[in-house]
Amino acid sequence: MKITGTTCLAGIMGWPVSHSRSPVLHGFWLEETGVDGAYLPLPVRPDDIEQALRALPVLGFRGCNLTVPHKQEALALVDRVDPLARRIGAINTIVVAPDGSLEATNTDAFGFREHLREAAPQWKPGSGPAVILGAGGAARAVIVALSDAGAAEIRIVNRTLKRAEAVAGDLAAPRTKITIHSWEEVSAVQRQAGLLVNATSRGMVGEPPLILDLSSLPLSAPVVDIVYVPLETELLAAARRRGHPAVDGLGMLLHQGRPGFEAWFGASVQVTDRLRAAMLATLASAR
Ligand code: ATR
Repeated sequence: MKITGTTCLAGIMGWPVSHSRSPVLHGFWLEETGVDGAYLPLPVRPDDIEQALRALPVLGFRGCNLTVPHKQEALALVDRVDPLARRIGAINTIVVAPDGSLEATNTDAFGFREHLREAAPQWKPGSGPAVILGAGGAARAVIVALSDAGAAEIRIVNRTLKRAEAVAGDLAAPRTKITIHSWEEVSAVQRQAGLLVNATSRGMVGEPPLILDLSSLPLSAPVVDIVYVPLETELLAAARRRGHPAVDGLGMLLHQGRPGFEAWFGASVQVTDRLRAAMLATLASAR
C-alpha cells in the first residue's frame, strides 16, 4: 500500500479492535480497485468514543465503521441516523458529510440479505415462517432484513425472554408477525418453517457449540449461521448432512462492508471467490 498526501482515510473504531477483519476486507478492495485510500484499525476506549467521532472530520477522515462496544452508544452521538439503523438500534457505518456532520447507518441487514440472496437464491419471503435464534444486535439486523424483505412470520427463540419481548416490540411491522419462544420450543417452532438463522454467539470459537435437532425443519429451508469462526459450525455441518441449503457467516461480514467502501472511497465493490479466499486465509492463520 502506498500512502500519499491525498490518500482518503477511513477505519474501524472498536475496543479491542485488533480482532477485527475489516482492515483486511477493505485493504483487499483498496488494492483491487487501485483507489488512493487507507483503512485503519482505530482502538478507541468506550469513554473516548464521542471525542474520537468528533475528530473524524477534523482529521479529514471520510468516515468509519464501528464495532463492539460502540455500536449502540454511538447512535446518540452522531448528527443523523437513518431510519433502518434507528429500528435496529445500532450503527456500524459513519460517513462524514461535506459540511463535517456525521451520518450513520447500519449495513448488517443489507449484508445478511445480500448474502442470503446469493447463497440461497431459492429462499423467498413467502417460503414459510423464519426461525431466528437470538435477540441481540445481530438478531435485530437479521429480523429487520427479513421483515423488510416481506417475511410474514418471524419466530424468535432466545434464552432471555425479556430481551426477545423487547425485540418483538421494537421491530413489530404491519405485515410481519413476530412471536417469541424459549429454547424448550426450538424443535416445535421449526415445523413448517422456511428458514432457520443462528444469530446467537453459540458455536463461535470459545463459546458452547450449538447442537440442534433439525428433524422437524422442512428440508427446503436454508440454515444460516452468522458465526464465521469457525466457518463450518456444528449447526451448518448438521444442516448439510440432512440436505438443507447451508449458508455460512462470512458472506454477511463481507457484504456489510460494501456500502461503507462505496461511500468513503467512491468505487463499487463485489464479494468474489478471490475475496472469500483471502479472508479465509486470514481466519485460518488467526486461529
Ligand atoms: P450480538 O450483538 O453479536 O448479537 P449480543 O447482543 O451479546 O451479541 O447477543 C448475543 C445473543 O446470543 C443473545 O441472543 C444471547 O442470548 P441472551 O439474550 O439470553 O443473552 C445469545 N447467547 C449467547 N450465549 C448463549 C448461550 N450460551 N446460550 C443461549 N444463548 C446465548
